[in-house]
Amino acid sequence: MTPDDTTPTDPTRSAADGSAQPLAERGSNRSQRPDSKAFREFITSGWGERAPSAASPSAAAPFTAARRARLSALFPGERLVIPAGGLKVRSNDTDYRFRPHSAFAHLTGLGKDEEPDAVLVLHPEGEGHRAVLYLRPLASRETTEFYSDARYGEFWVGARPTLEEIATVTGIETADLARLADELAKDVGYGGVRVRIVPGADTALEEVVDEIRRTEAAGELDAGLAEALSELRLVKDEHEVAQMREAVARTIEGFESIVRALPRAVEHARGERVIETTFDAHARLEGNTVGYETIAAAGEHATTLHWIRNDGQVRPGELVLVDAGVEIESLYTADITRTLPVDGTFTEVQRRVYQAVLDAADAAFRAAVPGARFRDVHAAAMEVIAARLAEWGLLPVSVEEALSPEGQHHRRWMVHGTSHHLGLDVHDCAQARREMYLDGILEPGMVFTIEPGLYFKSDDLLVPEEYRGIGVRIEDDVLVTPQGNENLSAALPRRPEDVEAWMAKIQRGE
Ligand code: GLY
Ligand code: MN
Ligand code: MN
Repeated sequence: MTPDDTTPTDPTRSAADGSAQPLAERGSNRSQRPDSKAFREFITSGWGERAPSAASPSAAAPFTAARRARLSALFPGERLVIPAGGLKVRSNDTDYRFRPHSAFAHLTGLGKDEEPDAVLVLHPEGEGHRAVLYLRPLASRETTEFYSDARYGEFWVGARPTLEEIATVTGIETADLARLADELAKDVGYGGVRVRIVPGADTALEEVVDEIRRTEAAGELDAGLAEALSELRLVKDEHEVAQMREAVARTIEGFESIVRALPRAVEHARGERVIETTFDAHARLEGNTVGYETIAAAGEHATTLHWIRNDGQVRPGELVLVDAGVEIESLYTADITRTLPVDGTFTEVQRRVYQAVLDAADAAFRAAVPGARFRDVHAAAMEVIAARLAEWGLLPVSVEEALSPEGQHHRRWMVHGTSHHLGLDVHDCAQARREMYLDGILEPGMVFTIEPGLYFKSDDLLVPEEYRGIGVRIEDDVLVTPQGNENLSAALPRRPEDVEAWMAKIQRGE
């Protein structure tokens, strides 16, 4: 049946009988799932015993307990709510793959995709807190969820771990998520327990908490928790440093696979995608996924700092800037950039620009020592960048004037910062206070990037023609040590002659 010309079609009426059907229910109009009693009885019966639990305590457990203790000491007598967050809609009825909030991962050690909607709560108890992890328990196969819930059902997304299994893995007491609202409300009220929740992690739960606590100061309380959780991650513990080493190692392998794929990239109309997908395939195969969208920027595209469209050609004679990181199963990520000559050899002018960036990076490494300020690392890199630009005749003022806060002319060619903390998030610790971050003092255990660059756009009339269309960034991941620092990504060549030799070796199949 088709609507006739005289009757306007009403999109809220079903075509079959003209009755109104809420839009939210329309998704099931394509469903042919049987719902007879006979079917329900049949599908929920006849299943064997579940396999015995193979869960064992995670290596992260003692470390997450220490992290929770540090958080506990900051908020005596308060209830702290740290949600994993829920599934996020990608479009219509499809979700993104789940990834828990980084604060939740940091305090529980849980990664991967097993715990949407889970919530860690630190309940005030005695001198400290009692941690309880609220989770959806494994649903029995006698429930309709088992076979009919496309978001959570075992038939659709797999069986969840049991509460006992998660308790074994994390070393944290677990409880059914259904108890959460009641237990959040316990002793809250005028003059009672103060509740804070990580803002932005789970908006539905924030509403529940707001209903319970009814305070005007909610925003301030929650910001204080977010700040503390960010600052808790500024210094990595031994377990985290091991995770970072692994993320870097997997990322370096990804760069090797990119070099092997370069001949294929050159042949493809969207060679940048060949690079992106080569790296991303490696990240999925050897880790959890990428820590951020891979940047594969050939030629002029390298002057767009976050070029992730990656639909351009990769041409011999040009450079290709690749900024990529593998996020491993524990959700820690590397963040590494190399700028490679597509045909394996830098031209003289490419090498000149590259060397300036490398010298800036080396100066930053020399500044990245315990006791220095985070901002000194950037300042050291900028001194080199400004001096080199002056040598090339590009600065309209002296190096000193450019480096002064009133000048900053050199930043036209490097508008981004030199460093950011790195860990569970690529831009880790982002809610830390300025005095703890930019003005903070470097300590052993801090992990951050050093990533100077120079970017000359092809229509930049202030640079000689030979520089136009060249973008170079070199990014390494640095661990501050008691003696100075360690370049965690040092195994990936940086010097131009080493990059050329490394590429040649890989392409010879060695
Ligand atoms: N990959 C993003 C950054 O380097 O900060
Ligand atoms: Mn970075
Ligand atoms: Mn990067």
